[in-house]
Amino acid sequence: MLFRSLNNPNEKLVELVFAAKTAKQLGVHHLTLVAPYLAYMRQDIAFVPGEVVSQRIIGDLLAALFDGVITLDPHLHRVASLQEAVPVKNAINISAAPILGDLVVQKRKNPFLIGPDEESAQWVAQAAVAHHLDYAVATKTRLGDRSVDIALPLIDVKGRAAVLLDDIASSGHTLARAAELLLAAGASSVDVAVTHALFDSQAEVLIKKAGVGQVWSTDCIAHKSNAVSVMPAIAQALLTLS
Ligand code: R5P
Repeated sequence: MLFRSLNNPNEKLVELVFAAKTAKQLGVHHLTLVAPYLAYMRQDIAFVPGEVVSQRIIGDLLAALFDGVITLDPHLHRVASLQEAVPVKNAINISAAPILGDLVVQKRKNPFLIGPDEESAQWVAQAAVAHHLDYAVATKTRLGDRSVDIALPLIDVKGRAAVLLDDIASSGHTLARAAELLLAAGASSVDVAVTHALFDSQAEVLIKKAGVGQVWSTDCIAHKSNAVSVMPAIAQALLTLS
C-alpha cells in the first residue's frame, strides 16, 4: 500500500509512478494507493472542444499503476462512481460527511447545516439526517475560477448557528459568499466544515472577512484547520480489501 494525499500533486504523481513501478518490479502483486485527497478529479468533461479532461487522464494513469484506490469525497460530479473515474479492481470512495457531522454536533448546539451548492446536497443530507438537524442547500453559479454567485433557498436562519458543509475549500469564494448571505439573513454565527482544506494563499483571509467563525477540516490534507481524523475510516476500508 502506498499512502500519499495528492494536494500539490505534480511532483507527487511522478514519485508515485516511480514507486509503484518499482514495487511491481520487486514482486508486489497487489498494490493499493491510499490518497485521502485525489487531485484533478474536478475537470470531468471538456467544457469547450479540445479542453483537457484531467479526471480521465489521471484516472487512467493511476489505474495503470495500482490495483486499488482508496480516497475520500473525490468530487465525482457528472461521474457515477469512483471506479468510472479510476478504473481499478478495488475503488473505494469514503464519505467524510458522517465524520464532519459528528464533529459539528460536538462543536455547536442545534446547528443549521447548509450546503453551498447542489453538489454538496449528498453530504449535507447525510450528516443532517444522522443527527436530526435542519439543513438546506443553496444554488451556485460559477462565473469564473474566483467568482461565484450563490442564492440561498427560502429558509429561516435568524438566530441560528449555521454551519457550511462542503467537500473542498479552494479559493474560498464559495464559502465566503455563502457566509455573507447567511449572516445577512440573520444567522447568529457561520462556521465551516470541509473534507479537503486545499485553501490557496488568499482563501482563509477571504473566508474570515466574510464573517466565518471557525473553520474545521479533516486531515485528508494536512492544514492548521484539521479538527478530525479520517484515518480510522481509511483503516476500516483497508480491512475490506481482498
Ligand atoms: C465545487 O463545486 C466544490 O464542491 C466546491 O464548492 C468548490 O470546489 C470550492 O471552490 P472554491 O473554494 O474555489 O470556491
